[in-house]
Amino acid sequence: MASPIPFFAVLLLAATAASARRHAPPQAGAAGQSTYMAPSCRAHTASLLDFGGVGDGNTSNTAAFRKAVEHLSQYSGEGGGGGMLYVPAGRWLTAPFNLTSHFTLFLHADAVILGTQDVTQWPVIDPLPSYGRGRDHAGGRYASLVSGSNLTDVVITGNNGTIDGQGATWWSKYKSGKLKYTRGYLIELMHTDGVFISNVTLVNSPAWNIHPIYSRNIVVSGVTILAPTKSPNTDGINPDSCSQVRIEDCYVVSGDDCVAIKSGWDEYGIAVGMPSEHIVVRRLTCVSPTSAVIALGSEMSGGIRDVRAEDITAIGTESAVRIKTAVGRGAYVRDVYARRMRLDGMKRVFWMTGDYKSHPDDGYDKTAVPLVENISYQDVVATGVWKEAARMQGIQGAPFKGICMANVTAEMTKERKVSWNCADVEGVSAGVTPAPCAPLQGTHAGSCPFPTTRSPSTRSLYNSAHTPLRLLLLQWLGHSSSTIYSEYPASCCTK
Ligand SMILES: *[C@@H]1O[C@H](CO)[C@@H](O)[C@H](O)[C@H]1NC(C)=O
Ligand SMILES: *[C@@H]1O[C@H](CO)[C@@H](O)[C@H](O)[C@H]1NC(C)=O
Ligand SMILES: *[C@@H]1O[C@H](CO)[C@@H](O)[C@H](O)[C@H]1NC(C)=O
Ligand SMILES: *[C@@H]1O[C@H](CO)[C@@H](O)[C@H](O)[C@H]1NC(C)=O
Ligand SMILES: *[C@@H]1O[C@H](CO)[C@@H](O)[C@H](O)[C@H]1NC(C)=O
Ligand SMILES: *[C@@H]1O[C@H](CO)[C@@H](O)[C@H](O)[C@H]1NC(C)=O
Ligand SMILES: *[C@@H]1O[C@H](CO)[C@@H](O)[C@H](O)[C@H]1NC(C)=O
Repeated sequence: MASPIPFFAVLLLAATAASARRHAPPQAGAAGQSTYMAPSCRAHTASLLDFGGVGDGNTSNTAAFRKAVEHLSQYSGEGGGGGMLYVPAGRWLTAPFNLTSHFTLFLHADAVILGTQDVTQWPVIDPLPSYGRGRDHAGGRYASLVSGSNLTDVVITGNNGTIDGQGATWWSKYKSGKLKYTRGYLIELMHTDGVFISNVTLVNSPAWNIHPIYSRNIVVSGVTILAPTKSPNTDGINPDSCSQVRIEDCYVVSGDDCVAIKSGWDEYGIAVGMPSEHIVVRRLTCVSPTSAVIALGSEMSGGIRDVRAEDITAIGTESAVRIKTAVGRGAYVRDVYARRMRLDGMKRVFWMTGDYKSHPDDGYDKTAVPLVENISYQDVVATGVWKEAARMQGIQGAPFKGICMANVTAEMTKERKVSWNCADVEGVSAGVTPAPCAPLQGTHAGSCPFPTTRSPSTRSLYNSAHTPLRLLLLQWLGHSSSTIYSEYPASCCTK
């Protein structure tokens, strides 16, 4: 297999000479040329400076970003070769802008894209069909700072440059009820095939950080996400009605779930009916005192299945792999596998909630009872557990079934009379300390499943003639790891 490290080329852009001189980015060459490192996999490259960008942290670059993407979109079609927008060192204030297909947004290490705090500059867009309304409020929602819709092959990367949502204004307006619409996210890609977000730092999002929705073949790798642990709803990475997703080597400190897998809300999510499936989360480090390392739900009305989480580290977090659902959601959460988790300073290790409530409106179907089945946890070491080992509450008449736990230790900060609280759950366990509640004391061979095969849907995609997908899947097949995941084609850089 080819090395996954992209080939880099040095580009000399005479066209940017004048503006490069004026704004003197650290990489400006002696001859007045702007020299920068660029991945070679796009045929056309432009710098934000070419479109009048000013990186002083005060001047608006909204027009520059929009013009730059519009310019590069001429290469986004069949045979166009694709385009890359280079964001040099500097502080680039902007309102939301859209991306295009076969496109790379590349951030210099000292580039900071700053979301404007002027709420009036954030366009208001329609609610998501699978939510029926905004998440914070009924009605519309603000666009996301970096948005894309109906695209193919989108890359957001760089030498660990930063996207800063300057969320403080939004958090205080949200808390004091001063917003009419739902807050925007930092990055949202809708109906997109092939998304690769790597080597960037995201800070202070107004709300969620990365929100791919109705999309597939997604990799989020080497991303740092930071928000104050008291900031409202600053979820890290939320795949929503997405398939073939790989999240790896990410570090998230946030005021809400580090990863939250979702698929729409009650009757709206049921109507759209798009599950989140074939999702791998590995080597994730999470700090989230008020939320989960990985949440499944609470919006899960398109279904969630085949989620594999491994090599997870959490520090001072509320719970680990948490299931949140309610009557009215319908659908299912099934085939969830977690192994090798090291957790320190947890409120609880296990948490499942069957009556999460929170409905979009009163029109939800009271007979839409979700199915929760086949949830496995293995090789879990938790220390400093300060509240209880587990709170597992299924749904009366529709118990959460097929729960499997093996080789789990929850070391409590102090002895508790009851450290497991269970209702309406059924399952098996082996080697679990402290001893689990009676409904989970069914015995088994001592290990829980963790599938190592690719899904059938992956195989059929592999046979498709769709070129970017073929490249993605060639990488899957060439990889010795047995878990399924989306691999972005580094090979697109070598032609
Ligand atoms: C991330 O950045 C590091 C160092 O700059 C580089 O070696 C690595 O290849 C990058 N990874 C990706 C996935 O872009
Ligand atoms: C910042 O920008 C505003 C309007 O764009 C302008 O009025 C103001 O003078 C600028 N401040 C500085 C310090 O450049
Ligand atoms: C971004 O794209 C959406 C449709 O996908 C469109 O409605 C919106 O006007 C675009 N925004 C900008 C600033 O171009
Ligand atoms: C985007 O894709 C979705 C799903 O295929 C489709 O329903 C929608 O009409 C598309 N929107 C545009 C603007 O092409
Ligand atoms: C990227 O930047 C963040 C924030 O400064 C830092 O915590 C992280 O270690 C950096 N990652 C890499 C790979 O340099
Ligand atoms: C749960 O796993 C069992 C045993 O592998 C299987 O028979 C059953 O169909 C699974 N349930 C669901 C809902 O997939
Ligand atoms: C139990 O889990 C621990 C921690 O992950 C691991 O080191 C150990 O090998 C596991 N034991 C068995 C019998 O698999």
